[in-house]
Amino acid sequence: MRQGVERVLISRAEIDSKVRELARALDREYAGKNLLIVGILKGAMIFMSDLARAMTIDVQFDFMAVSSYGSSSKSTGVVRIQKDLDQNIQGRHVLVVEDIVDTGLTLNYLLEILKAREPASVRICTLLDKPSRREVEVPVDFNGFAIPDEFAVGYGLDYNEMYRNLPEIYVLKREVDTY
Ligand code: IMP
Ligand code: MG
Repeated sequence: MRQGVERVLISRAEIDSKVRELARALDREYAGKNLLIVGILKGAMIFMSDLARAMTIDVQFDFMAVSSYGSSSKSTGVVRIQKDLDQNIQGRHVLVVEDIVDTGLTLNYLLEILKAREPASVRICTLLDKPSRREVEVPVDFNGFAIPDEFAVGYGLDYNEMYRNLPEIYVLKREVDTY
């Protein structure tokens, strides 16, 4: 196991089967619609690429990058757009793909921005959800796993930009974590 991580939280097999399950739900939900998947960089990158390839309907990709966290793992509530969408989403069906919903502050802010652009619909799909940490309510339409209040890394999720390439999801060691 990589230094700094404590134990596997979600295995590769569990991730794979959940991704397939979510893809099937999205296929049904968006059948016949022209779906735009908006990945939130960088954490959602790995999840989004697996999810999109497990779907069978036609989708288009776009990305946004926001900063909600500095170098520590605490949410500041300050969200800044670092990269905006390339496409106009007016009248489009938009699915925001996130790695994890924690306090909800990031997505709450993003949803406001996206709704103001008048998409036909905007929904959220997240791989992980930490419901016990929520500070603002966000409508999570598609959720992979609800997890306890622990700091998760791997499969796209980072701590100080590290561990994103781990193929499974791990719990960060408490000594490493400032959370
Ligand atoms: P929120 O605004 O508090 O909901 O935070 C959402 C963002 O915080 C996510 O997109 C992650 O980048 C980061 N984050 C929150 N919890 C974790 C975690 O357990 N591991 C890695 N990143 C996390
Ligand atoms: Mg993130």
